[in-house]
Amino acid sequence: MTNPTAAALLARSNRLGADPRNTNYAGGNTSAKGTDTDPVTGEPVELLWVKGSGGDLGTLTEQGLAVLRLDRLRALQHVYPGVDREDEMVAAFDYCLYGKGGAAPSIDTAMHALVDAAHVDHLHPDSGIAIATAADGEALTAEVFGGRVAWVPWRRPGFQLGLDIAQVKAENPEAIGCILGGHGITAWGESSEEAEANSRWIIETAAAHIAEHGKTAPFGGIRPGFEALPEADRRRRAAALAGTIRGIASTDRAMVGHFTDADVVLDFLASEKAPRLAALGTSCPDHFLRTKVKPLILDLPVTATVEEQLARLHELHAAYRADYQAYYDAHADAGSPAMRGADPLIVLVPGVGMFSYGKDKQTARVAGEFYVNAINVMAGAEALSTYTPISDAEKFRIEYWALEEAKLQRMPKPKSHQGRIAFVTGAASGIGKAIATRLAADGACVVIADLDLDKARAAAAELGNADVAIGVAANVADADAVQAALDAAVLAFGGVDLVVNNAGLSLSKPLLETTEADWDLQHDVMAKGSFLVSKAAAKILIDQHLGGDIIYISSKNSVFAGPNNIAYSATKADQAHQVRLLAVELGEHGIRVNGINPDGVVRGSGIFASGWGANRAATYGVAEENLGQFYANRTILKREVVPENVADAVSVLTGPDLSRTTGLHIPVDSGVAAAFLR
Ligand SMILES: NC(=O)c1ccc[n+]([C@@H]2O[C@H](COP(=O)([O-])OP(=O)(O)OC[C@H]3O[C@@H](n4cnc5c(N)ncnc54)[C@H](O)[C@@H]3O)[C@@H](O)[C@H]2O)c1
Ligand SMILES: [Zn+2]
Repeated sequence: MTNPTAAALLARSNRLGADPRNTNYAGGNTSAKGTDTDPVTGEPVELLWVKGSGGDLGTLTEQGLAVLRLDRLRALQHVYPGVDREDEMVAAFDYCLYGKGGAAPSIDTAMHALVDAAHVDHLHPDSGIAIATAADGEALTAEVFGGRVAWVPWRRPGFQLGLDIAQVKAENPEAIGCILGGHGITAWGESSEEAEANSRWIIETAAAHIAEHGKTAPFGGIRPGFEALPEADRRRRAAALAGTIRGIASTDRAMVGHFTDADVVLDFLASEKAPRLAALGTSCPDHFLRTKVKPLILDLPVTATVEEQLARLHELHAAYRADYQAYYDAHADAGSPAMRGADPLIVLVPGVGMFSYGKDKQTARVAGEFYVNAINVMAGAEALSTYTPISDAEKFRIEYWALEEAKLQRMPKPKSHQGRIAFVTGAASGIGKAIATRLAADGACVVIADLDLDKARAAAAELGNADVAIGVAANVADADAVQAALDAAVLAFGGVDLVVNNAGLSLSKPLLETTEADWDLQHDVMAKGSFLVSKAAAKILIDQHLGGDIIYISSKNSVFAGPNNIAYSATKADQAHQVRLLAVELGEHGIRVNGINPDGVVRGSGIFASGWGANRAATYGVAEENLGQFYANRTILKREVVPENVADAVSVLTGPDLSRTTGLHIPVDSGVAAAFLR
């Protein structure tokens, strides 16, 4: 059963974390001190419950709390070897754990343990960080809060910062909390209610002061020519730029992207001060660990063409990399971890919006959210004073901190398709749905493209939230619809890496009954549809310079001559030859093109359910419900083929193990000798 002190802490954390004005996503931590009965002695024991490393306050549960013995935490002060060796204290936290200890204690555990108050909140509110990053933050703190809130100068989080805050509290008995220079706020109280009220009072008082006393245009006037393009134009422009920008951001390591054209971003980018402020970079450690110390900002007006913008972005990227290398060289010493990559995580295009990047979609989206936090912080600081983030030297001490490096090393090994974006046509049903499901399980972001938007969205929702999969409408036989679907994919995830031409339908008829319309429909969807998708996708793949995969779900019928099948089998043979032609043509871009020849996939197939199955059953003289077994019996392995078998083949073909294979077809048919590939 949850200790009542811990239960109250969880409820307070969830309330505070539910409002993004109180703290950024997964930012900040909260704690409570209380007693429990030690199961070893039966005696009461004083404990600290504190949010552990990682996780978000808004959704914090008991599993996210670290539980430590207060007597032992407090005893650490006696062995503390001084600020130069403060990192050693993190390992010592493990010797203070109570029972199994719950979640791993974070670096901020010292602050919570050492501050002499029963309840402590450490938060990253935009309004509080605005004051924390103002040039005269200390004076502003006195002016805004009238002595109820103390000022603690910037110091990297750790044991010493905990001691600093504890001392400030002891010296200012009337204080309810403090502003942490360059960083955030910490508030305290003797009850959970009091701590929460004090946190909210600091956040709301800071926001109200900025609103009442701040400049109305903190970023200055509008830069003529840098205003937002109309929505449809900027979305089109964003889609045209996205592939190349993702390539830029992925020069050292493949990244997934996120795009936003929120007003707060467009207004900032249209302003006079945007270039200067962007160059100063972000300040709160949480912000710049996710956004890198500074963004890349395009310096061309919206009247520039796509080609001019791309050419300039390449120049700015080269300068960005040189600047990042110089930052690393200026601050690294012999013990520093190796440089982690010199590409920007935030790319700002005035008039269009912000592209943000991360190893997966959630990380990319959160990086963008944090840069919006940083814009709000800069607005508040400039409204009252001059925005003054912490120095590059201090940013480096955090970015390349041994403890930060250790955290990265502890990250689980990425899945086979992490960081890759898959576009699967006809994925609302049957084989395509199984492929989408498998690729999502392999860590890819998945775009489900199908005729009907509702069906596509429903299939995507089965895979997870919009960080995992989205559904888009696309008739693959229509070039404009294909382009629109790929644009949507690119805006959702930053680009495309893996295309599966799966959409299809089948009308089984003998030659004399096959109408011209039957022929055209099947050739439009399969031969032409996959040509259109491959063409539009290849443009993006080439722009990105990240290689890629194109997979065709053709068929055993592309090589096997069965009865009553002229239009379907002919268009499947066309698809199969597209594989070979494109493998040859796209190889120089690192794009592999392969095909899969399934056969007899009855279960889950819309094709079989809607007449084809009945027709095939009649052709072969078996009952329709026995068709799966009929197909199985005529195979070499005598095993039924299911959609997941085809999906497994897609996973292997596009995964890391067949990296030297292109122009291949893999049969997934349980063995049909007449369709052996020679
Ligand atoms: N089922 C089999 O035995 C088998 C065997 C070999 C090849 N295939 C091929 O596998 C693919 C998938 O077949 P399935 O059995 O899963 O069928 P299915 O009917 O379950 O799925 C096909 C999907 O494609 C979509 N689609 C149809 N026309 C489209 C268009 N113009 N634009 C976009 N989407 C469109 C449909 O809405 C449907 O969701 C097809 O290309 C089929 O030819 C199937
Ligand atoms: Zn913090």
